[in-house]
Amino acid sequence: MDHINYKVVFCLLGVILVVGPWLQIFCLCALAFYLWNAQKISIILRTLPRDLGFITKLYRIIRKNQILKRRNFTPASMLSDLAAKYPEQPCFLFEDQVWSYKQVNELSWRVARVFHERGYKRGDVVALVSSNRPEYVAIWVGLSRLGVITALVNNTLRTIALQHSLEVVKPKGVIVSAELCPAVKEVEEDLSAKPTLFKFCGADQQSQLESPSIGFELLNSALDQQPGTPIIGLMPPSYKDELIYIYTSGTTGLPKAAVLRSSRYLFGTLAARYFANITKEDRIYNPLPLYHSAGGVVGVGPAITMGVSCVIKSKFSASKYFEDCAKYECTVGQYIGEMCRYLLATRPSEYDQKHKIRIMLGNGLKKNVWQSFVDRFNINGIVEFYGATEGNTNIVNIDGTVGAVGFQPRLLPDFLNPMGLIKVDEETSEVLRGPDGLCFRCLPGEPGMFVGKIKEGDATREFHGYVDKKASSKKVATNVFKKNDKYFLSGMFWMWHILNK
Ligand SMILES: *[C@@H]1O[C@H](CO)[C@@H](O)[C@H](O)[C@H]1NC(C)=O
Ligand SMILES: *[C@@H]1O[C@H](CO)[C@@H](O)[C@H](O)[C@H]1NC(C)=O
Repeated sequence: MDHINYKVVFCLLGVILVVGPWLQIFCLCALAFYLWNAQKISIILRTLPRDLGFITKLYRIIRKNQILKRRNFTPASMLSDLAAKYPEQPCFLFEDQVWSYKQVNELSWRVARVFHERGYKRGDVVALVSSNRPEYVAIWVGLSRLGVITALVNNTLRTIALQHSLEVVKPKGVIVSAELCPAVKEVEEDLSAKPTLFKFCGADQQSQLESPSIGFELLNSALDQQPGTPIIGLMPPSYKDELIYIYTSGTTGLPKAAVLRSSRYLFGTLAARYFANITKEDRIYNPLPLYHSAGGVVGVGPAITMGVSCVIKSKFSASKYFEDCAKYECTVGQYIGEMCRYLLATRPSEYDQKHKIRIMLGNGLKKNVWQSFVDRFNINGIVEFYGATEGNTNIVNIDGTVGAVGFQPRLLPDFLNPMGLIKVDEETSEVLRGPDGLCFRCLPGEPGMFVGKIKEGDATREFHGYVDKKASSKKVATNVFKKNDKYFLSGMFWMWHILNK
């Protein structure tokens, strides 16, 4: 019992001596309760500021999310609203191009019109195979205006993996950026449904417009013939609609296409906004792939739904990172995986501290480089988070605890924050169960699998599954903490500790 704070005990005894009999009884009970739960209470007290901060933000996110749901907002409708309100403000910056809200919005309507004319409708799928550029986002937002779902294909894939990615979503059309046409042409023969292929040249690819690509329709000339205005009488997409497919590199071989609905997209954006204190005055530096959730949701979401401009890069470059941030006057930087380690490995430069980045937002910053990273580049806030694209398990480190990816608030009872780590077999990743058939919760410091409770009808707790339904069932476990409960199994986190501090 070395967790007992004797000051508290003596204070309580003191109070008991000076107060009346009823209060004395009450105080004795309080003391007994305190001694009984000393450790628990002391954890709650020590984590109180952090947890209160977290709960306040969570409350704001949930309240805001309810408004979005009630008004049936979607990324497309929010982009339209921003374009009406701030037409000339920059939405995307890319190389030397500046794309205003008006331009992005108009391009999205041109895309919608082209595919509307060709008979694409709600529930159809179009695959997008393109490198990073502002048009990338305008294309999927435009298609979503028709209720068409865009599959954001990993653009580094070739041959079998590319063919598989296209095959699993059965696209009616495939939009391919000019330089990737040969890669798609190579696998086209092997696709069972024969999709229409569209070649697209970004504003940075003007030189490729003329070169012929046999078997591809040139999207640019079709777009040029359309006005960038709303289609009259079109049924607008809804908050609950499937928006995009994002592929997750499964532990077993080929990529799986995860369903991302507008509800989840908007929730992810809201979470990034509140936990990283992002406001309209910020500018995000996004060198991540737009086909993945970190770059495509957390990076781009605030731009198209909140009016926060975003710098898009075709590729991450460690030596250019902070130079770019200074040049574009970015205030929020994104990272993923080993990027921070690569940044730390660059030669010292005048730009190391000559930038306005105040917050770095991402996943994968390791404990052993964390402090040196923060010191060298003078970063005030690190917001390390984890959220599986397809999952309902999200966790975030809001107070910069070095090495932590997040925490479980002690103040919240478990039913309000139903997630945790469970014990699994270290060899097979098989979930371990006791004689009662239920799983074991990991103790602090023990590694395990991250699980989140599935609750239908709640954007934060639903699991929308994969396009391939068999893959979906493998990620769900029942009878985890109670009979008949249902949990989503996130990735394995062997080195993962939920810090209680
Ligand atoms: C994209 O594909 C490459 C090559 O297979 C892979 O290394 C990478 O992890 C994939 N990216 C994502 C975000 O899945
Ligand atoms: C966000 O703002 C709050 C209140 O001003 C502050 O306590 C918190 O540290 C900030 N978070 C980050 C990541 O900068």
